[in-house]
Amino acid sequence: MASSPFAPNIDTIITIERHILEQQSFHPEATGVLTSLLYDIALAGKMIASQMARAGLAQILGKTGGINIQGEQVMKLDKLADETMYMLNDHTGRLAVMASEEHEHIIPIPKEYHSGKYVLMFDPLDGSSNIDYNVGVGTIFAIYQRLGVEGEAGTIEDCLQPGSKLVAAGYIVYGASTMFVYSTGEGVHGFTLDPSIGEFLLSHENIQIPKIPTYYSCNQGYYTRWSEGVQKFTRYLQEMTNTTRSISMRYVGSLVVDFHRTLLAGGIFYYPADVSKPEGKLRLTYEANPLAFIVKQAGGYASNGHQDILEIKPHALHQRTALYIGNQELVREAEENIKRYG
Ligand code: AHG
Ligand code: MN
Ligand code: MN
Repeated sequence: MASSPFAPNIDTIITIERHILEQQSFHPEATGVLTSLLYDIALAGKMIASQMARAGLAQILGKTGGINIQGEQVMKLDKLADETMYMLNDHTGRLAVMASEEHEHIIPIPKEYHSGKYVLMFDPLDGSSNIDYNVGVGTIFAIYQRLGVEGEAGTIEDCLQPGSKLVAAGYIVYGASTMFVYSTGEGVHGFTLDPSIGEFLLSHENIQIPKIPTYYSCNQGYYTRWSEGVQKFTRYLQEMTNTTRSISMRYVGSLVVDFHRTLLAGGIFYYPADVSKPEGKLRLTYEANPLAFIVKQAGGYASNGHQDILEIKPHALHQRTALYIGNQELVREAEENIKRYG
């Protein structure tokens, strides 16, 4: 197709829908439901991104008792993002059940809607402690096939499947630009939101984590609470010089942002268990699992310090886990140090 000098060649404009449809050719049994579900999530991401920008203003205005976002009391951003994810997915007939960091129990699909074939679990706003300081935040999602018979209501069991059963996962990162990164098991692909047309366009096809690590990422403020093995591993990183340069440290405090940088630049992110958090802080089902699925598709690996995150059978919706994620050899080195020194 001829491209006009004033617009990119239409052929190079790959939207999420076109990309997933092209990928679907790998799955002849695919019915397009997953494509539509990913599209719903991308739309939620666009809405959260725009609300977030305004929320900052409303918050300032809110202090003078001024206007607010929804014509009601300004909701906390976690809640706002959670409401947005729910509103875009409860009626579509694509899901049997949902689960969110912001809800203690599973979120049933209202009876008036068809109970579909997928399960959607999400952290609607990750890194929210940073939002007031305009630091990047994100949304993380995990998609399973439901267990049991389609048409019946989903159950907690649908939401306690190991990460190895994921059919798709990804995240939206609200940073300098808004990006949608996902995988359906056919590689990891990144899309950047073009605000002028309100579409996510393919910008990073087939992301592979770089072999040479660039950064390590952990909250060194907790160093004294870590086990000897984790302290030794951290010193190993600090003394490590790879072929080109010594590895440096970056830590934003938003998992999605710290993970996204690790995926693109190479290295490792870790949030160890410690004396005050013996189970770790991050959640297995809607933080560790989806990112472990992504990093594996990109040639990396994720562990709780002892085993592959994706092999852990969850026993509770909000179960916490330690997380070491990024370059295979660095994560394995962490496991080695923990095995040897505790
Ligand atoms: P959330 O905002 O969804 O509760 O997640 C916050 C998490 C994660 O984003 C980040 O890696 C971690 O909290 C940071 O914790 P510390 O402030 O203890 O380093
Ligand atoms: Mn989170
Ligand atoms: Mn959250």
